[in-house]
Amino acid sequence: MILQQFALDGRVALVTGASRGLGQAMAVGLAEAGADIACVSRAGDDRQTCMRVEALGRRFFGIQADLADSAQRVGLVDRVVAHFGRVDILVNNAGSGTRYPPEEYPMADWRELIEVHLMAAFDLSQQAARHMLSQGRGRIINVGSVMCYEAGLNISAYAAAKHGIAGLTKSLAVSWSGRGIAVNCIAPGYFETDMAHVLKNDPVRGPQILDRIPAGRWGQPSELGGLCVFLASDACQYMHGSVVVVDGGWLSR
Ligand SMILES: NC(=O)c1ccc[n+]([C@@H]2O[C@H](COP(=O)([O-])OP(=O)(O)OC[C@H]3O[C@@H](n4cnc5c(N)ncnc54)[C@H](OP(=O)(O)O)[C@@H]3O)[C@@H](O)[C@H]2O)c1
Repeated sequence: MILQQFALDGRVALVTGASRGLGQAMAVGLAEAGADIACVSRAGDDRQTCMRVEALGRRFFGIQADLADSAQRVGLVDRVVAHFGRVDILVNNAGSGTRYPPEEYPMADWRELIEVHLMAAFDLSQQAARHMLSQGRGRIINVGSVMCYEAGLNISAYAAAKHGIAGLTKSLAVSWSGRGIAVNCIAPGYFETDMAHVLKNDPVRGPQILDRIPAGRWGQPSELGGLCVFLASDACQYMHGSVVVVDGGWLSR
């Protein structure tokens, strides 16, 4: 019985930034549990994710949009509903990072990062909730970071956005938990993706980071799949506004 609560057959998940990295891994996890997948990515090169989802017998719908541009966000969730007939799960994952000393951070770059990580997450949550509230059920999963709790060097915009996404998660949960929508946040530590490639291979920072991870290794994107499926499923009933850390012990140190 308990395993049946994790099944996502017939559900539709919109995962932003699912063309690669953590978003792709979570999308594939959701598809393995039975969900059809819609993906938003900036470049629209989502062929690999599409192949992996369709190989599982699930349907895939790719949308190209720059989430930094509010005009390109208009009607995004409606397009998914028009294609699949419904939306049950939203994973706000898309994002990238820029790094400058705060006194030199170009305002345009600061604003763009906040726009993608935070403004787009709220915008799409609002769009999705309008469908989920009328369905009486939905799941929203935000992707935070250990930077929901701490701040690395020269990442003022990223740290502000990730602290913000933790607050947004809690605020949306307060509003919607009694109306069938569970809003939670996954806070990954250091995972091997394109975004983290430069840091992992930096001759100074790479070994420093590895040395501080109690598990003794970086995370693999597929290691987020199980948690994502849980948060998206009926097994997640009384969990609202939680920020769940998956970091190989990083924050416990
Ligand atoms: N990797 C880590 O160690 C780590 C740790 C903690 C949190 N995170 C968070 O996890 C999320 C995914 O990171 P990742 O490491 O998987 O990164 P990634 O491998 O670089 O993938 C980023 C994804 O986001 C999409 N994206 C980026 N900017 C976008 C925009 N403006 N509009 C639409 N799509 C956009 C990309 O689309 P394109 O392929 O078209 O560019 C891609 O699909 C981010 O929120 C990140 O902050 C990552």
